[in-house]
Amino acid sequence: MGYDNVSILRYMGNKNRLLNFIIPAIEEVTKEEDTICDLLAGTHCIGYALKKRNRVIANDIQAYSYIIGRALIANNKETISRDEAAYELEPFYLENIQRQKFSFFYENYADTYFAEEQCLSIDSIRYAIEMVRDKYRKALYLCALMYAMCKVQSTPGHFAQFMPKEHDRIVPLRKMDLWQDFLNKCDDFRKIVHTGRKNEIHKTDSKELLKTLQNEVSCYYVDPPYSGEQYSRFYHVLETVVQYDNPGLQYKALYRTDRFKSRFCYKNSVEGEFAFIMREVSKRRASLVISYSEKGLFPAKKLQQLGKKYFNNIELRQNNYAHSTLGKGKNNINEILLILTD
Ligand SMILES: C[S@@+](CC[C@H](N)C(=O)[O-])C[C@H]1O[C@@H](n2cnc3c(N)ncnc32)[C@H](O)[C@@H]1O
Repeated sequence: MGYDNVSILRYMGNKNRLLNFIIPAIEEVTKEEDTICDLLAGTHCIGYALKKRNRVIANDIQAYSYIIGRALIANNKETISRDEAAYELEPFYLENIQRQKFSFFYENYADTYFAEEQCLSIDSIRYAIEMVRDKYRKALYLCALMYAMCKVQSTPGHFAQFMPKEHDRIVPLRKMDLWQDFLNKCDDFRKIVHTGRKNEIHKTDSKELLKTLQNEVSCYYVDPPYSGEQYSRFYHVLETVVQYDNPGLQYKALYRTDRFKSRFCYKNSVEGEFAFIMREVSKRRASLVISYSEKGLFPAKKLQQLGKKYFNNIELRQNNYAHSTLGKGKNNINEILLILTD
């Protein structure tokens, strides 16, 4: 079955290609109109696939994810297109190209992840988006900008490090016209799923959000980082372009100094994170569906044992698929799905 899906980022661990594996499991433990909470939503593909069927509450600690959530999950009224973007944004875009009122990328990232001219384009598109008043339109345009930035990027889709500008792979990328890629992407948002339900998006630690939710949620979906790789290190540039908050930058790769460190990414804290979520969800008598990797930091067997402490019924499903390792080749890993019910 084809589920609703809009691709914005090539995101580490995203579940775009696993919707047929995950969505039916969530549907089995919920009814239409039930509220579903995606606690670590990333690109929001799970909430978006369920949007027509359910009310969605979605959360992630990263600001770029919050913006994608606003565009796809909370937004029930706005769409954008290439023509609208050209009409609404181009005058401001050209104004900034000339006057450089926004210049953070030009000043800090020229010839790193982007060419000098591309940095000027990023600043100018961002400036133009700042002039848009409606927060949903703004979020949709920011999604198109993030897409365009990832497209011209040297390392496939992430910003952990940049390649020297003389590198064979970089030369053609540095010539790409970011403004055109941005405009073209806007056409992907001509049709967005809109419903009459009041969906919610949050930008906080998953534990903090869980503490505030009572019995309104029927099913929690949890898809945490599997490894020691912090998302805040891989996607710091997206965090900066949406916030445009003039952050301190550090190291050769120009990371933000205020990067969030997830406790799912450390061997000594990952079990505590899972235990907290299982305990709180079971107290609320809701179902819990967990995506994890067979090769995750926390062994799948232990995850199952932990689940048995809090839930009466546990089902484990596995799906063998080629996982994108963002440039390091394809890796066959078993994605597991743990379905925990009262
Ligand atoms: C595997 S990704 C989720 C992918 C998502 N299901 C998708 O398909 O795009 C894990 C996400 O967890 C977020 N994250 C990690 N630790 C978190 C925490 N403690 N609270 C909230 N979000 C967190 C990361 O920012 C990242 O977006």
